[in-house]
Amino acid sequence: MKGNNKNIYPVFNWILLRDNKEKLLKQKAKVLWMSGLSGAGKSTLAAGLEKILFDNGYLTQVIDGDNIRTGLNFNLGFSEADRLENLRRIAEVSKLFLNCGIIVINSFISPTSAIRERVKRIVGEEDFIEVYVNAPIEVCEARDVKGLYRKARQGIIKDFTGIDSPFEPPEHPDIELNTDQYGIDECVEQLFKFVLPRIEYKQ
Ligand code: ADX
Repeated sequence: MKGNNKNIYPVFNWILLRDNKEKLLKQKAKVLWMSGLSGAGKSTLAAGLEKILFDNGYLTQVIDGDNIRTGLNFNLGFSEADRLENLRRIAEVSKLFLNCGIIVINSFISPTSAIRERVKRIVGEEDFIEVYVNAPIEVCEARDVKGLYRKARQGIIKDFTGIDSPFEPPEHPDIELNTDQYGIDECVEQLFKFVLPRIEYKQ
């Protein structure tokens, strides 16, 4: 193990409790973890959900793969180990927001069951909402918003999810959104309706 966690003494007892912060914000904190292929619509849905939650008085934080990989995780690539490390860090960061009473909306491919299990364990099962943003690979490839599928087919990008790197569809997500069948507004509405009772603050 690289990290040496001997002689480290985390302090918890002077940190204000999450309950206090949730009470202040009048909301219950959760981590919504959106997984799905590149181009399935995760980032668009995350932005749409954040907007509707904000308009309804909820404080959120969106964490998005493309943004994180230019900052906090700029040193990670797309091998299985790097993806795991990418998402392990994000799960830990999510926990900080969670303890601040904030609703976290993550959008990361999160390609394998093992990775999703790991992040769920870090966040804590009771606070974790698994969202599968589902569009068939053919649809994502036809959309090719960023031109990455074309590059992957040409071999310019290696280890591209769905092309030469695996994507295991979530088997039991808490909610699945089919972005090839419903428009963005409709999917945001479905997600909002699902999330609302889970973040409502009750005395
Ligand atoms: S994850 O697998 O570790 O969860 P993450 O969501 O952070 O991936 O990053 C995915 C984004 O990185 C994609 O939306 C795409 O824009 C970009 N990307 C660049 N190279 C790859 C690749 N080889 N596989 C998948 N996405 C890639």
